Amino acid sequence: MKALVLNGGFGLDHLALEERPEPVPGAGEVLVRVRAASLNFRDLMLVKGQYNPKLAMPRVMGSDAAGEVVAAGAGVTRFKPGDRVANTFMPLWEEGAITGAAAGATYGSERDGVFAELVAVHERALVAVPPHLSYEEAATLPCAAVTAWNALTAAGTGPGTTVLLQGTGGVSIFALQLATALGARALITSSSDDKLARAARLGAAAGVNYRTDPDWDKWARQQTGGAGADVVIEVGGAGTLDRSIRAVKTGGHVAVIGVLTGGGTVNPVPVLMKAVRLQGVFVGSRAMFEEMNRVITERQIRPVVDRTFPFADAVAALRHMEGGSHFGKVVLSMTAPGHG
Ligand SMILES: NC(=O)c1ccc[n+]([C@@H]2O[C@H](COP(=O)([O-])OP(=O)(O)OC[C@H]3O[C@@H](n4cnc5c(N)ncnc54)[C@H](OP(=O)(O)O)[C@@H]3O)[C@@H](O)[C@H]2O)c1
Repeated sequence: MKALVLNGGFGLDHLALEERPEPVPGAGEVLVRVRAASLNFRDLMLVKGQYNPKLAMPRVMGSDAAGEVVAAGAGVTRFKPGDRVANTFMPLWEEGAITGAAAGATYGSERDGVFAELVAVHERALVAVPPHLSYEEAATLPCAAVTAWNALTAAGTGPGTTVLLQGTGGVSIFALQLATALGARALITSSSDDKLARAARLGAAAGVNYRTDPDWDKWARQQTGGAGADVVIEVGGAGTLDRSIRAVKTGGHVAVIGVLTGGGTVNPVPVLMKAVRLQGVFVGSRAMFEEMNRVITERQIRPVVDRTFPFADAVAALRHMEGGSHFGKVVLSMTAPGHG
């Protein structure tokens, strides 16, 4: 079976499909035939050595996959062959609060990832896939969607709240769909007017182009009667955090999620003067994933797939993501013609 492996150094040139032995499910594990996988910004960071500079190689990449259970190891009770499943981002985080052990055991970083035709996964690290979703759609959920769900629910998003979203990548488009489903009003920024128009069709109440109107914090305050947004889904990092703190209301909530513009420092003064809650978010637990799937199923929400690449073209898919022209999620198909 084939797997996407980083070997011999950092960089996209060191990434290739390799033939690997088929995994054998141990006690409590199931064997999953992966049908589709999805890319996250993290995958690019991992490949470039920006996420885990101590990454052990060779390392199978990838955190998000969906597929079909084809065999069950001893003692498995949660799933059976034929079930449609997706993996959780942190196999050791089932419910409750995150632990250091769970945060330190993630796919494609501290352990081999799921960009492979077959993976053996503990049954407790899998969820059932919403029945209305294709494998390509289901594969988009483990990281970006669960992160958006965790951030929004931890912030108390619901009817009457205004949520400010940054850009139109995987996390932000899920946050748009889920915030709307929770009854909130969504404001969104983008570098592209076309993408803003697409976001409006998905339910965004208003949008602003952060290239042509860099004062999007002021714009967000104008959109909220001068008060500021109740919640900011902060994916930009050092380049946006100060403005996010200016865009949020006094006593508001900033979900600190991303580093699209890199890491850096934060000025504590406006944080305390506005009594802002800065909440770091690291994906979410299996329980959060299952709760989100119930809402996705009830509301028949369909993830936005920007483009699907055959597995054999995984490097081209990563370059596509790096280019930033995507809207929503970039997917790999293990069953598309020419997948290798
Ligand atoms: N903490 C966690 O658990 C967690 C989980 C998932 C992701 N993340 C992080 O969250 C970030 C987003 O991840 P993703 O997978 O959604 O990435 P992505 O799909 O690659 O998102 C890229 C998009 O973000 C927008 N963007 C880029 N720079 C921006 C800026 N300065 N201001 C506003 N928007 C900007 C652009 O949208 P437009 O083209 O519309 O401008 C771009 O297309 C990454 O830093 C990732 O590492 C963290």
